[in-house]
Amino acid sequence: MKSGVIIITGTSKGIGRHLAEHYLANGWIVAGCSRGESTIGHDNYSHTSLDIGDEKDVTRMVRTVHAKHGKVDALLNNAGRASMNAALLTPGSTLEKVFRTNTFGSFYFARETAKLMIRQKQGRIVFFTTVARPLRLEGEIAYAASKAAVESITQILARELGSNGVTVNAIGPTPVKTDLIRGVSDNSIQNLLDRQAIKRIGEFEDVTNVVDFFLKPESSFVTGQIIYLGGVEN
Ligand SMILES: NC(=O)c1ccc[n+]([C@@H]2O[C@H](COP(=O)([O-])OP(=O)(O)OC[C@H]3O[C@@H](n4cnc5c(N)ncnc54)[C@H](OP(=O)(O)O)[C@@H]3O)[C@@H](O)[C@H]2O)c1
Repeated sequence: MKSGVIIITGTSKGIGRHLAEHYLANGWIVAGCSRGESTIGHDNYSHTSLDIGDEKDVTRMVRTVHAKHGKVDALLNNAGRASMNAALLTPGSTLEKVFRTNTFGSFYFARETAKLMIRQKQGRIVFFTTVARPLRLEGEIAYAASKAAVESITQILARELGSNGVTVNAIGPTPVKTDLIRGVSDNSIQNLLDRQAIKRIGEFEDVTNVVDFFLKPESSFVTGQIIYLGGVEN
């Protein structure tokens, strides 16, 4: 796989940490972030502690990475938060928090990196959605709606950037065992798995495989696509 400079959001744990370690092992320079401190020690890794919902901090981080390395080849918009609430019990403050991270934060990173990628005439942007969106999962209204907006951003940005050598795609994982789904009951997870074509929990490698595909130089003709794991259909 070709390597380069990659920004990955939400690298302190879960899928983001696995992705950071995977790309470091494959020779990439990784710039990660999370609200907390770094949990990765590697010569080619740098960490910024920020809230991705803070537009100014996101802009500053992207510019700093670019100033240090002279380019940004790829962005993995992984950081996210979930929320399990029945619609009628969902306060506005929950909607605001979930959209601020999942939708606004991902948009800020995409916008700032896309400005650089257009000038470079190449780049890869990968967003993170969820099967909760196409499955119209009951009890996850704020989360699924925030990711529906992420999917729209993916598809519109793909069209706006298509003639500039920048591809924009999204991956929609099934449940993967991380802190994000720690509060979800075994029964709810099983009900969800039963709605997949392939009824098993997702592994980190399932996610990495799809992201690898989006990043490949040979994938320059693939954009605006949303790939769900487990055989879940849109
Ligand atoms: N795990 C699943 O079952 C699953 C299924 C479908 C989709 N996904 C998607 O996959 C992505 C990663 O999920 P995960 O399971 O790895 O979650 P996770 O284990 O909870 O990790 C989330 C990461 O994002 C960071 N983060 C959260 N809010 C942030 C903020 N406002 N600013 C900066 N960093 C923030 C967290 O660090 P701090 O807390 O230190 O900020 C952490 O590093 C998410 O977009 C999620 O929606 C996950």
